[in-house]
Amino acid sequence: MRGASLTGRVRERQVVDGLLAGMADGGCGALIIRGGPGIGKTALLEYARDAAQDVRLLWANGVESEAELPFAGLHQLLQPVMHRLKELPRTQAAALRGAMGLGPATGDRFLVGLAVLTLLAGSGPVLCLIDDAQWLDRSSADALVFASRRLTAGGVVLLFAARDDWSALAGLDELRLTGLEPAAAEALLRERAPGLAPQLRERIMNEALGNPLALIEFAKTAGAADPQGLGAPQAPLPVTRKLHETFHRQVDALPEAVRRLLLLAAADDTGDLELVLRAAELADGQAGAERALESAETAGLIRIDGGLLTFRHPLVRSAVYQGAPFTRRCAAHRALADVLLTYGEGADRRVWHLALAATRSDDAIGAALEGVAHRAGGRSGYATAAAAYERAAHLTADRRQRGLRLSYAAEAAVQSGQLGQARDLARRAEPLTHDPARLAGLARVRAAVEFELGFPSDAGEVLVKSAESIERTDPERAALMLAHSIRTFSFSGDAGRAHDAAQRLSLIDVPPGSGLTPLVRAMRAMADLLAGRGGVGSPIHELIAAAHHVPAHRPAERLLAASLALITAQDTIALELAEPVAEHARTHGMVGMLPHALEIITEAQLLGGRHLDALTSATEGYDLGRDTGQLHRLAHLGGLLAWLTAISGDHERCRMLAEAGIRYGNDHGVVPAGALSTWALGLLELGMGRAAHAVGHLESTRHPIVAVWCAADLIEAGVRANRTEVAERSLRTLMEWDRTVRRPWVSAMALRCRAMTTSGGDAGQHFEAAIELHERCAQPYQHARTCLAYGEWLRRRRSRARAGIQLRTALRIFEDLGARPWADRARAELDAAGEPRPGHGTDAASPHRLTPQELQVVRLAAAGLSNRDIARQLFLSPKTVAQHLYKAYPKLGITSRTQLDHLDFGTPAATGRP
Ligand SMILES: Nc1ncnc2c1ncn2[C@@H]1O[C@H](COP(=O)(O)OP(=O)(O)OP(=O)(O)O)[C@@H](O)[C@H]1O
Ligand SMILES: [Mg+2]
Repeated sequence: MRGASLTGRVRERQVVDGLLAGMADGGCGALIIRGGPGIGKTALLEYARDAAQDVRLLWANGVESEAELPFAGLHQLLQPVMHRLKELPRTQAAALRGAMGLGPATGDRFLVGLAVLTLLAGSGPVLCLIDDAQWLDRSSADALVFASRRLTAGGVVLLFAARDDWSALAGLDELRLTGLEPAAAEALLRERAPGLAPQLRERIMNEALGNPLALIEFAKTAGAADPQGLGAPQAPLPVTRKLHETFHRQVDALPEAVRRLLLLAAADDTGDLELVLRAAELADGQAGAERALESAETAGLIRIDGGLLTFRHPLVRSAVYQGAPFTRRCAAHRALADVLLTYGEGADRRVWHLALAATRSDDAIGAALEGVAHRAGGRSGYATAAAAYERAAHLTADRRQRGLRLSYAAEAAVQSGQLGQARDLARRAEPLTHDPARLAGLARVRAAVEFELGFPSDAGEVLVKSAESIERTDPERAALMLAHSIRTFSFSGDAGRAHDAAQRLSLIDVPPGSGLTPLVRAMRAMADLLAGRGGVGSPIHELIAAAHHVPAHRPAERLLAASLALITAQDTIALELAEPVAEHARTHGMVGMLPHALEIITEAQLLGGRHLDALTSATEGYDLGRDTGQLHRLAHLGGLLAWLTAISGDHERCRMLAEAGIRYGNDHGVVPAGALSTWALGLLELGMGRAAHAVGHLESTRHPIVAVWCAADLIEAGVRANRTEVAERSLRTLMEWDRTVRRPWVSAMALRCRAMTTSGGDAGQHFEAAIELHERCAQPYQHARTCLAYGEWLRRRRSRARAGIQLRTALRIFEDLGARPWADRARAELDAAGEPRPGHGTDAASPHRLTPQELQVVRLAAAGLSNRDIARQLFLSPKTVAQHLYKAYPKLGITSRTQLDHLDFGTPAATGRP
């Protein structure tokens, strides 16, 4: 990039200056500078580069090309800091090495992003300038987006310049550039073309609409071609098209050999001067090629810097390439491929050029490109793999082979997160595919796409249909798909369809040796449960028992069993199943898996009454879900966070999260997210004593499982709002669940609810029995709720002293849990009973004073882990860990790490050791 002094752009410079100013103190930020071609994005990056002081500068730019190389952008950006790779945690270093093609690929695609984050944060202050980001290879873009979203410390600023239509960086701050103000545009025009006639200047001003590139170029050509004016006024065209035409005219006026050299430069995506020259020599000889190079440089269309050839502006490049006829473009790619045969290391690039040169199907090139795709996939460059498979299919004459390659492309596209493209590829592959296994693979692709982009119920239908088509030829796979569809229908709360799928499943003869029987039986039981039928115990228990033997590196089965454990109120077992998965994900860098594991862990902790742990897990899962773009998970975890904030009485945050969850659930047919959020709103109202409002919410949770989980709350709300019929109906649901799951804390809840709904004298016995059960199982929140209800009941019966005992227990527990509205209610009851409140001092080390992230970090630090190890486990940068500790110490009244030993933080949520 060259230096540039900017005309105008006062506000934009301030934004950039603001970001740069914080870097010295560890401040971080990411900003996308957006706008059309020539509007001044690169110029603003250049301004930032010149304005930044005492920072390390890293730079990369995307190049418009079909032959995408995986991680090419990262390669360029990180080159100057790659020597620090050894300072990274082992898994991250390995992932980055794999991405760069220096070793085997490891971890998932987000781990590379994490490695980038750690590397940048450890090299700070560092300013990353990423120009033409819309042409970055997708793998690099994903990694940089992930890193950008998780930046919190280390003095790292990323500035992306991107054209308007680029969507890959959703969720980051944007600065949109439009045309220069008229005064600035005038000034630029006067500076660049001082002697222009006023009439001409006015025309240019009108046509350029403040686009700096247009101002500069129109002035140049106007002055050269027609010193008096612009000739006949042109039809009104968009500025970009006019610019394109301006460049076309410049290129067209050049001799043949120069145009040929320019086309070669445009067809090459590496800017390798020697490669371009050697290719040009094939047609024009060495002297001819060098003359052409000189002319192109003199015409100001390209620049030469060391061994690098760059176009003056990306628009020149696209004007050259798009302006050339197809056959000439093919010839250019062929020449580049010929040179690459003996020059450079670009075996894969050579294949790409051959493919782009091919004018008809070609088996040899198709096979070679499939090899490229395979290698890219092996480096987790899935977007490249998808593009290469697709192109390979394009070159394949044989229908079956073409279908196969398209189906690989579809699968790679799912893995790279390009879902729309995956859907399109699967559609094209299907009519060409007859192999049942491949068809099933395509159905999985379509189901994955429908699940994310459409509705889970549609995804379930895709699976059912595909299972139908293969149930004779491949019963095992068909059974697996139907089992999977039931899980999907549970997501959409679709009991009827789940039931139908279960019926179909029961008709399939699963081969005894397949090991699928426990899953099939359990999923049928789950369908029954969704339909409100009990008696599910044993099949689900069998599957859960079997899942204990499934290793943690097969997360899907363990997490499915864990979610069934939750439905059957076995929170401890759910944790036993899910925690090793989370630990495995942490140690092996499976960043994308963690939100799912954390969702299950949160639910287990929440049902088990470990609210602080649940808050920590949910917060971590929520942030990771956001940073990895897993929107369904985000909504679900948002619903869980809403529930937890309802308990702590943070009204505003609860409502904000719940409304987002409900909206998302409605828009995307993800019923649990909306149901959890609705439950949260009901609980919030119940806590505040607004029982009628609570009933309204709790009655409308539209998911059978959530409806069971929140039955106890609805019963209490119904009783308090004098809605006896609601309370009685829910009591039946709760009793049925209790009979099915037979867990002491559920029985305790059921007893409390029976006590609350009965008008007879046996209420006291039910309360006593409930409390006895509570005392045997650690479920503090439900325990406290029972004590509160019992205390209220006793007070109404004028047993003040006994009421006081219950209410004080309730108050102590609610305070420990940070359940403010509930503690307030216990306090008010104690006052009403005339009973003394328990004395309590605020514990300096109370974990409640920390944010969930701070608590998580502090706990691991207290367990003796270093900042590096904590960072590795939590997918943060070590600088962020240090920052959390720095903020946590004063809140805990301590000044050093060693003092952590003396504090009690309860059970750590993440316990994995390095
Ligand atoms: N505010 C400005 N003052 C002076 N010159 C400017 C200004 N903004 C842009 N320019 C000049 O205008 C030309 C086009 O700007 P630039 O290359 O930054 O556009 P861009 O937005 O990066 O376009 P593209 O999307 O095509 O890359 C460059 O020569 C640049 O130096
Ligand atoms: Mg630019």
